[in-house]
Amino acid sequence: MAAEGDKMFGGRFLRNRDPVMEMLTSSINYDKRLFDVDTWQSMVYARALEKTGILSKSDMEKIVSALEKISEEWAKGAFVVKHTDEDIHTANERRLKELIGDVAGKLHTGRSRNDQVVTDLKLFMRNNLSVTSTHLLQLIKTLVERAAVETDILLPGYTHLQKAQPIRFSHFLLSHAVALIRDSERLGEMKRRMNVLPLGSGALAGNPLGIDREFLRNELNFASISLNSMDAVSERDFVVEFLSVATLMMIHLSKMAEDLIIYSTSEFGFLTLSDTYCTGSSVMPQKKNPDSMEVIRSKAGRVFGRLAAMLMVLKGLPSTYNKDLQEDKEAVFDVVDTVNAVLQVANGVISTLQINRENMERALSPEIMSSDMALYLVRKGMPFRQAHIVSTKAVQLAESKGIPLSHLSLDDLKSINPMFENDVYQIYNVVNSVEQYTAMGGTAKSSVNAQIEQLRDLVRRHTEQA
Ligand code: ARG
Repeated sequence: MAAEGDKMFGGRFLRNRDPVMEMLTSSINYDKRLFDVDTWQSMVYARALEKTGILSKSDMEKIVSALEKISEEWAKGAFVVKHTDEDIHTANERRLKELIGDVAGKLHTGRSRNDQVVTDLKLFMRNNLSVTSTHLLQLIKTLVERAAVETDILLPGYTHLQKAQPIRFSHFLLSHAVALIRDSERLGEMKRRMNVLPLGSGALAGNPLGIDREFLRNELNFASISLNSMDAVSERDFVVEFLSVATLMMIHLSKMAEDLIIYSTSEFGFLTLSDTYCTGSSVMPQKKNPDSMEVIRSKAGRVFGRLAAMLMVLKGLPSTYNKDLQEDKEAVFDVVDTVNAVLQVANGVISTLQINRENMERALSPEIMSSDMALYLVRKGMPFRQAHIVSTKAVQLAESKGIPLSHLSLDDLKSINPMFENDVYQIYNVVNSVEQYTAMGGTAKSSVNAQIEQLRDLVRRHTEQA
C-alpha cells in the first residue's frame, strides 16, 4: 500500500504500515462527525495566521473558501474518504491540498493535531450538550407539569419495597424531577468549566509564531484561554466530567425506570405504560413488556462503562499527548447519542403514562396508617417511643384477630392503652394523613405545590443558561 498519508510525517517512514494496525489506529470512521467544527476551527486559525504574516491575505482567502467547500462536501455526503485518511484532520488537510495545492501546507503552521483535536472535541460537545440540556429540561418539565395536575392522587410510598406511608403521586413524580434538576445543574457547571480554549498550545510547548490567542478565543467563542500548553493538549477532565454527569443522570433515570416497571406490573397495577413504549411477547399474548424502561435501565450500565474506560485510559498516562487519548471521542459520541435518545424516550413515557387511581387507592391498606396511629398518641402527649410500641401492639392484635387495623374496636384499642378515644378512627382518612406533612419537602399539598413552583423556576433559569 502506498502510504500517501506518510507524507505528513515528512517522509520519515519508509516502510508501509500493517493494514490491521492502520485499521486499529485510524479514527476517521467516527471522528468524521467533527467535520464542521474542524473546518470552522481551521478557518479561524487561517485568519489568525494571516495576522502573524505567515499567510498573505489571498492565501488565507483561498484556504478559507476551500475549507467552506470541504465542509459542504461533508454535509452533502460528497466527501470521499481515502484509506490513507487517518482521521478527520488529515482527511481535511489532504482534501485542502487537492483543492488549492501547496498553499494548503501552510495551514498547519504552529498548530498540531494535539491542540486541534481537543479544540474540536470541545466545540462538538458545546453544540451537542446544549441539545442534551434541552431534552433533560423537557423531561423535568413534563414530570413537574404532570405533578401539577395529579396532586390529588394518593398511593402508598415504599421503603425496602414495603408499603410505608401514604404519599401524593405528585410527590413521587417530583422526587425524580428533583434528582434530574441536580443533573441539569451539574451539566451546566461542567459546560462552564469546559469553556477554555486549548488552540494555540501546539504539540505541547505552545505556539512559536506569537499567534493571537485572544483572537482565537473570541472567534471560537470560548470564555478563557488555557493556562499551560502541556496541560491543554492532554487534559480530558471535561470528558470525564461529562461522562460522570451522564452516568449519574443515567443512574437516576434507571431508578425511575425501575419504579415505573414495578408500578406497571399486573401485581401493582398503579400505572399503564403507553403501547408506544412497550412491546408484546411472541409467546405469551397477555404480556406487555416495558422495553423502553428496561433499555433505559441497561443503558445506565453502558454509559458507566464508557466512564470507567476513559478513566482507565487516563490513569498513569505520561505527560502531554499520547495516542491513547483518541479513545475519548467514541466515548463522548456514544454517550451523547445514548443520553439524547434516552431522555426523549423517558419524556415520551412520562407524558403518555396512564395512572390507575383506583388501584393506587386500593393499595392504601389500613396497616400503612400505623405510624399515623403513633402520631395520634404523640399529639395526645405520649412520648413517641412509647407511642410506637403501643401502635405496634395494635398492629399485632389486628393480625392475631385476622382483621384490618382499622377494624379494631375502641375497646380493643383501650385494652392496649386508655389514651385511645373515638377520634382515633380519623387516622384512616388518607387525605388527613398526607396533609400532616406540611414541613418543607413533605407530601402535603402546600408543600408539593411549593416544590412545583421552585422546580418551574429552576427549569426556567436552567433553560436561559442552556
Ligand atoms: N486522531 C487523533 C486523536 O483523536 C488526533 C491527534 C493525533 N495526534 C498525534 N500526535 N498523533 O487523538
